Amino acid sequence: MIIEVQAERTYPVIIDTAWKVELSKLLVGRNKAAIIVSEKMQASIKDLIATDAEVLIFPIPDGEPGKSSATLNKIWDWLGAAGFTRSDLIIAIGGGAVTDLAGFAAASWLRGIDWVAIPTTVAGAVDAAIGGKTAINSEYGKNLIGAFYSPSAVIIDVSWFDSLSDRDFAAGLAEVVKAGFISDAKILQLISDSKILDLRSNRAAVIELVSRAIAVKAEIVSSDFKENFGREVLNYGHTLGHAIELHCKYDLRHGECVSIGMAFMAQLQLSLGLISSELAQQHIDILKNLGLPTTYKRQAWPSLLSSMYLDKKSRGKTLRLVTIKGIGITDRLENPDEKILLAAYEKVSL
Ligand SMILES: NC(=O)c1ccc[n+]([C@@H]2O[C@H](COP(=O)([O-])OP(=O)(O)OC[C@H]3O[C@@H](n4cnc5c(N)ncnc54)[C@H](O)[C@@H]3O)[C@@H](O)[C@H]2O)c1
Ligand SMILES: [Zn+2]
Repeated sequence: MIIEVQAERTYPVIIDTAWKVELSKLLVGRNKAAIIVSEKMQASIKDLIATDAEVLIFPIPDGEPGKSSATLNKIWDWLGAAGFTRSDLIIAIGGGAVTDLAGFAAASWLRGIDWVAIPTTVAGAVDAAIGGKTAINSEYGKNLIGAFYSPSAVIIDVSWFDSLSDRDFAAGLAEVVKAGFISDAKILQLISDSKILDLRSNRAAVIELVSRAIAVKAEIVSSDFKENFGREVLNYGHTLGHAIELHCKYDLRHGECVSIGMAFMAQLQLSLGLISSELAQQHIDILKNLGLPTTYKRQAWPSLLSSMYLDKKSRGKTLRLVTIKGIGITDRLENPDEKILLAAYEKVSL
């Protein structure tokens, strides 16, 4: 299956395929390609890819530490030493950290060379690799240095997910659940009664959920590539989620923080009369069923609230939350009463 994304260029997200076969096709006519992969996952790509191109492997530190200016410098040196030209290709194989870094390396080398994303985590497949945002971290914060720079193709091979822990698998599904609430009721139907282990063993269900979530993101970014009003809906559950990520010093996965953020939104929207108690309960039931957290520390509230005001999506000094009024019907809420926010938080805090 192919889902097209229209951004500064139109590119395919190729789903349910064998990544090596797909990659071989994309290498036809190329002289050189560089695979950027984390040191931890280097072993899983060592078998040869069928191609006449010269394939170089650039291993980088695993996870967030790999998304640094030091790594990027090293990659620029490697590309320079190998004589990479505009007709060569960068290939990112890994989670969101690798695709973010490799995409930015591709955006900056010779003012932009082609790159292909091969996400290996659920979060990477449904979120990081789709939408054209590339970045590295700065000492002053995550993702502060980056560019909008779309890949030429994204290859999704769900067999990568087999080696993920249940925790990482579920954390990625939080973004799938989000896509359900903001746009696709069928996702929620499919995921409703699924325990994580049953889901993982059902390849067809994983493919359907991942494809649907990608379709949701693809449609939103195609209509609003550069993160204006339309793209903001992808931030459902994320304003509190980002604040929790900061507060726990990234101890919890991004998807886990977003899960708590969506549980909070359920309570907030219920108290404002925006959604029914059934829909609020559906948030909690689905997230809990997947083993995702739906509560956080009560005493963290003052710090969470001030981070929410600083969240980049909150535009200046206003606090702006993406809301739903029903499944797939999104809206925005500006500067809600802090007493109402606290009351909703108390329902999801321990
Ligand atoms: N560009 C965007 O629009 C966007 C959107 C969301 C998130 N992101 C970024 O994505 C990153 C998070 O991505 P992530 O959740 O994929 O984390 P990650 O890339 O840090 O990977 C998490 C861990 O999983 C391991 N891993 C990767 N694939 C594996 C596999 N198949 N089997 C076993 N282990 C595997 C990695 O080695 C790593 O240790 C963050 O840096 C975030 O800022 C970007
Ligand atoms: Zn997210």
